Amino acid sequence: MCDSRVGKPYFKEPSCMEELIETLNTLFESDCVNVEEVQSVMENFKSKESDWRRFAKFDPNRYTRNLVDEGNGKYNLILLCWGEGQGSGIHSHSDAHCFLKVMDGTLRETLYEWPSKSEGRTKMKVKKIADCEMDQVAYINDSYGVHRVENTSNVETAVSLHLYSPPFESCDCFDERTGKKQSVKITFWSKFGERTYGVGACKSAVYQPENN
Ligand code: SIN
Repeated sequence: MCDSRVGKPYFKEPSCMEELIETLNTLFESDCVNVEEVQSVMENFKSKESDWRRFAKFDPNRYTRNLVDEGNGKYNLILLCWGEGQGSGIHSHSDAHCFLKVMDGTLRETLYEWPSKSEGRTKMKVKKIADCEMDQVAYINDSYGVHRVENTSNVETAVSLHLYSPPFESCDCFDERTGKKQSVKITFWSKFGERTYGVGACKSAVYQPENN
């Protein structure tokens, strides 16, 4: 993973999803990712329901991952739809950058330390808990630790836009009680607004130990 902090030209505020994707495609032409710049472009995009409605698919049993754009192979842009009380398992990010922008509702991010060497025997340690409000952009990579994302509201749904660069097909998920890890394949509930079917396509979420 490459992370460049060198300043680049100013990008105007994207006014719709297409403009956001256009700007992101320009930013990701280079192999070096300027984290602050991507974060600021995503933050400056003020989310309107009309931008994400066609990608938003909810499932009563788990949160869904809906592919919006493949970023010319440089990143995946994914809309995640969270029903009331739904959340991910604790997971890592396969050495990729992960940007998370809240498009609707509020999400809680719980950041954990990587499990210690005695992996498989010790309860995982929480480093930080933060609530992410509408239009805020959170950022994580594996050097920060591992995290869980949840819609803690019992009455409202939430929607978030995630950018992963480079795109990855699997990640490690962790059991909070023991730190034991398991590799999990990343699948999509829909792609470009259309439901995906076939082997592995229906299980849309990152491993949720409590529910499986
Ligand atoms: C995340 O990594 O921030 C959310 C979990 C997921 O992509 O399924």
